[in-house]
Amino acid sequence: MKNDLVDVSVNPSGNPSLSARVAVAISRRTLLKSGLGVATLPLLGALSACGSGEAAGGTVAGVVEQFKPLSNAFKAVAASSGDTVVVADGYVAEALYRWGDPLTNAAAHAWRGDATEGWVEQENQAGDNHDGMSWFALPGKAGDDSSAGLLAINHEYVNYEYLFAPGADPSNWLEPWTADKAKKAIAAHGVSVVEVARDATGKCSIVRGSSYNRRITGDTPMQLTGPAAGAPALRTAADPTGTQVLGTLNNCANGKTPWGTYLTCEENFNGYFGSTDAAHALSALDKRYGVGLKSGYRWHEVDERFDISRTPNEAHRFGWVVEIDPLDPASTPKKRTALGRMKHENAEVVVARDGRVVVYMGDDQVYEYIYKFVSDGRYDSKNPVAARDLLDSGTLYVARFSDGSASGDLKGDGEWIPLVHGVTVKGAAFASQADVLINARAAADEVGATKMDRPEWIAAHPKRSGEVYCTLTNNSSRKSTETDDANPRAANRYGQILRWIEKGGDPTATTFSWDLYLVAGNPVAYPDRTDLRSGSALVTPESTFNSPDGLAFDADGRLWIQTDGSYANSGDYAGQGNNQMLVADPDRGDLVRVFVGPGGCEVTGIAFTPDMRTMFVNIQHPGEIGSHPNAPKKADGTKYGDNDIAREPTKFSTWPDGAAGGRPRSATVVVRRADGKRIGG
Ligand code: FEO
Ligand code: CA
Ligand code: CA
Ligand code: CA
Repeated sequence: MKNDLVDVSVNPSGNPSLSARVAVAISRRTLLKSGLGVATLPLLGALSACGSGEAAGGTVAGVVEQFKPLSNAFKAVAASSGDTVVVADGYVAEALYRWGDPLTNAAAHAWRGDATEGWVEQENQAGDNHDGMSWFALPGKAGDDSSAGLLAINHEYVNYEYLFAPGADPSNWLEPWTADKAKKAIAAHGVSVVEVARDATGKCSIVRGSSYNRRITGDTPMQLTGPAAGAPALRTAADPTGTQVLGTLNNCANGKTPWGTYLTCEENFNGYFGSTDAAHALSALDKRYGVGLKSGYRWHEVDERFDISRTPNEAHRFGWVVEIDPLDPASTPKKRTALGRMKHENAEVVVARDGRVVVYMGDDQVYEYIYKFVSDGRYDSKNPVAARDLLDSGTLYVARFSDGSASGDLKGDGEWIPLVHGVTVKGAAFASQADVLINARAAADEVGATKMDRPEWIAAHPKRSGEVYCTLTNNSSRKSTETDDANPRAANRYGQILRWIEKGGDPTATTFSWDLYLVAGNPVAYPDRTDLRSGSALVTPESTFNSPDGLAFDADGRLWIQTDGSYANSGDYAGQGNNQMLVADPDRGDLVRVFVGPGGCEVTGIAFTPDMRTMFVNIQHPGEIGSHPNAPKKADGTKYGDNDIAREPTKFSTWPDGAAGGRPRSATVVVRRADGKRIGG
């Protein structure tokens, strides 16, 4: 995702106390000065004994590995700045579903390669900027059948320089700006549900024309449900009930419920709203979420729904987790307001021992928070239909992290604070629980939540109840006076992976212990700075990366890490190459780079077939020029801008089709073993 929406703090709170932070910063400096680099600190084995005093998770100590050592299973891949996918020896990677690929067999919907498609074609083609995704079994087939299934895939945003065929204005390819162009951009957002078939050789293909295939876009009717549905702040002239909304936007990462639905999470929704009235006064609510007067998408210029001076409440109807039934193409997606409004990254769902459903969620912006939702009702696997509205009623909590008994050891304890109107949240800004959910950020400010280094994906260990990991991708804004054990570095370029163990291994617990599983750094650029790389999993020159983002466990318990950071491959980022995917062992700490994406891309989104022979990975925005070392230059030596690349869209990247494809395209990639065996086996 473009960083300009997330690298600026909109958090005005004083959380946590400054004096505590100063004390921690001094302590860490003292520790490092003493020569006791944090890399020498004990590994997680100690975590089960910290904090609660209980055997956290119940099974952490003495766990028996379910898979062979990663360094035996995967040959590490070197960093690359090329315009190609690189995958570990013995594996193959094949593009499956690319932006513009048609969902139907109709010739009218075929990909043209020159971006002349209009919004109607785009509504029948794959959207852009693939992100999180999940696999679903088909009805009538065994749940572990891997020969066919559905993929639900998020389409997070669009890149105008590739989305639109250039106009005649030599200085601005985007002119004239029209309502139809906005409609095409809106149609390229949302979600795809597509049927996937796998043949006997392991090759996968999209089943065009499948009755399950569906595009959900920024214009698809959906329902607002839960405690905030119908609230005054959600009502508009077009929807006086405050319960019916058009579309889902900036669908970042995802979740999957045990009752077979897909969760798609609205992240940087604020970017789509602007004002045609430069004097429009922003509300405190809009400011807290970064909704402003300007929008580079320019929808507000041609559609009053996105103009906050004319439809001030429309932006409040975004920033939610949306539940979709992929098996019913006629179903209405539901925005579940009980899970709170934020810049949602993903929604990791686990079922507690007592049947309550817990959803872990990160709010991805500098200095924002980590949340969890605990349902009131209980999930009964024998009656999945009864679970359909479990996400409408429950308690939303936000995390407060403490350094624990010692500062500088990168571990501590914490608590989940419920956000309940009139009980924990009493500020004048909140008239109801609906207000608390709509302005969850301000509610979390009030209860003293801990400001984190941009929480991205959260992943729960599949075999150890209550053990949960979260990528904190980076935070260039954090000052040295603001560091703590969970966010230990000022101007954090590289990011870290935090993990916590809920008290007693119970996902519904209100206290936890935590440590930093991995502090990313760069031993190529800074070979002597061990403080830049620590934790249980140690980064080496062969596995260096920045900005962990996508994060998921496979069924065996391997942890897959995907990156969305600088691909400059120089300076602080020397030796790291393009964005990549690594696989990690949460117990041994092994970390192996197994996949590198093409030029300018982000690697994001993970799904497996039940037999673990097929892995799906998304390549998002290949061809983003940014600071890439191979970015094309003009005759005068200056870098290509959007106007240049719109006119020469194959100049930098041609992934995945080659030059004949017309332009780079985001795509779902199938990763599988050449010998057809189980991944990592
Ligand atoms: Fe869409 Fe925070 O990544
Ligand atoms: Ca500590
Ligand atoms: Ca992300
Ligand atoms: Ca990111």
